[in-house]
This record gives sequence, C-alpha cells and structure tokens, in this order.
Amino acid sequence: MLIDFTFGGRLKVPLIVSPMFLVSNPPLALACCSRGVMGSFPAHSTRTREVFSDWLQDMERGLAEMDSPAPYAVNLVVHPTNERYPGDLDLCIQHKVPVVLTSKGAPDDVFNRIHDYGGVAFHDIASARHAEKAAAAGADALIAVCAGAGGHTGTINPFALLNEVRQVTDKPVILAGGMSTGQDILAAQAMGASACYFGTRFIATRECLSDDVTQQMMIAATAKDIFFSAALDGAPANWLRPSLINEGLNPDEIAAYAPGKRVMNQAAKARYSKIKSAGHGVGMIQSVESAANLCDRIIDEYVRARMSFGESLKDSPVSEMG
Ligand SMILES: Cc1cc2nc3c(=O)[nH]c(=O)nc-3n(C[C@H](O)[C@H](O)[C@H](O)COP(=O)(O)O)c2cc1C
Repeated sequence: MLIDFTFGGRLKVPLIVSPMFLVSNPPLALACCSRGVMGSFPAHSTRTREVFSDWLQDMERGLAEMDSPAPYAVNLVVHPTNERYPGDLDLCIQHKVPVVLTSKGAPDDVFNRIHDYGGVAFHDIASARHAEKAAAAGADALIAVCAGAGGHTGTINPFALLNEVRQVTDKPVILAGGMSTGQDILAAQAMGASACYFGTRFIATRECLSDDVTQQMMIAATAKDIFFSAALDGAPANWLRPSLINEGLNPDEIAAYAPGKRVMNQAAKARYSKIKSAGHGVGMIQSVESAANLCDRIIDEYVRARMSFGESLKDSPVSEMG
C-alpha cells in the first residue's frame, strides 16, 4: 500500500507526536490533530480496557467537532507477553483507529487485520534486521527509532540506520530520535524519511499527563542529563539523570554494570512514574506551553526552513555546476 503522508491534505506537516507512556492522552492527541499534526497515545497508558475504550470514544467525539482534523494513532505492543494485546487490537478494529503504531515482537496477522478495516500500521524498528522482518510481515511504514530517542531507544546513528534500512526495503521510513524543530523535519526528509516522530519535545505541554515537577525537570535538563542504560528494565532506554538520583539510584554505578545486569532497587519499579524518560532533544524544552501553540510553531518553522533552504541551495556548488 502506498502511504500518502499528507493523509489527504489533513497533515500540515509530516509529523507524528509519538506515543508516550504516562504522558500522552486524548487531550494531547486532540490538540495536535486540531493543528494538522498526527497525535497519538499508547493503549497501555490506560489501566483497563474500559478506560482504553473511553479514550477512543473521547478521540471520536473530539475529532467530530473539528474541521478537517489530522488522523490520530494508537500504539499497540504486539508481543505475546502483552496480555492485553488481543482485546486491545479488537477495540482498535471496532473503532477503526486510522493509524496503529505497532511495537515490539513479531506480529502475526496484525497487519492484515488492520488493513481489513482500512487502517494503516507503522512498526517500530531499531535495526535493518527488524526492518526486514516488519516489511516482510506487511507493515506500511517503519518507525526508525535511532540513538538519542526518549523511552526505549535505538542505539544506531540515524544516517547509518536509514542507509542500512534502505539496503533491505523501500518501505517509507518515519525517523525518530532527538528531533524538535520544523527544520529537523526538513532535514529528515532530505535524508529520505517520509515523516518524523517527536516525543520528548511534547512532554512539557499543558494538555498531557506530565506533572509540574516533571515538566520543570525537563526545562532544566539538557542532553548531558540523559542517561542511557538497559539496566532498569532490560531494554536500552534513555532516562533523566536527576530523576534517577531522586529515587536513590547512582547513574555512575549503574553505568558500570555488566550487560544484562538489572537494577534490583525497588525504585526501578518506578520507571516512567518517578524515574522519568526523555531523549537527547530535551534541551529544546524551555517552557510549558499548549501543544496547539507548539504544533503551530513547528509548522511555521518547517515552512520557513523549506523556503530558506531552497534559497541557500541556489548558492551551492552543485547548482553552479548545473
Ligand atoms: C516518557 C516517554 C514514554 C514513552 N513511551 C512509549 C510507549 O509507551 N510506546 C512507544 O511506542 N514509544 C514510547 N516512547 C518512545 C516515543 O514513542 C518515541 O519513539 C520517542 O519519544 C522519539 O524520540 P524523542 O523523544 O527524542 O523525540 C516514549 C518516550 C518517552 C520520552
């Protein structure tokens, strides 16, 4: 299936505000969709299937009140260890969720079931091998999660990952990790990506679930405060150093752990609730603002970047040669 990344002109910029556990919710997703940016949330941010069903209804009601909103997306962990997966997928099918962001594991017939109701599925990948498997299984696009992303992160540089992915598949790629501005979206397109995934940039928005303390921590942080480790839950992830220290963990000690060793501290159970995650782009968060304003600014930056980049190319050596 060929994906139109403007979704029939409803996306003003090729941007998905990515799903973030205990951060994203319907108000954040709706604010983004209202401005022409795809909003999303993870199904597993809801405590029960009933709450998930309520969130889907909130989305439908909210979007029905808007004029030509962007489509929304839901993140589903499609791994056998996720006990809620089959029932949550049934709910996505029932509500015809326009875009399903599948992550983890090897999906069985999930992509066929999404296509059957007219939905599309974008699958998280962090290596060319993952990309090959997801493309063969029928994903419509690949979310390339690169080094520096918030949450469970990839470890590969974006140029290197995109180039390797291109050797195994021509599926569209959505680039993720460390991006914050409209200019970043243009740069990703120049690298061959069809769209971008911004998470961290939206943690300090009024609509989302993050509390004041978390948002102030994000404002105070820069890339140097991001601590990479798989020791908290076994998967490579980026954590906010001050939040680890607040929970009695010593990042320098954890950094010396042998691969595979896990943090045994009770505090490790407080991942996302007390131990906060963010990506390398955290330094671009300078205030708490509405997601709608932030989307408008990113769209404006993107339009300006396109114009000024076009101008700057006129002076480049290649155009002189041409
Ligand atoms: C606090 C936080 C929670 C996250 N939770 C999820 C999640 O539940 N599901 C998911 O697919 N990705 C999750 N992510 C990863 C994002 O969807 C996305 O890949 C990442 O934020 C992109 O990198 P960036 O944060 O540098 O923009 C999370 C990221 C953050 C920062």
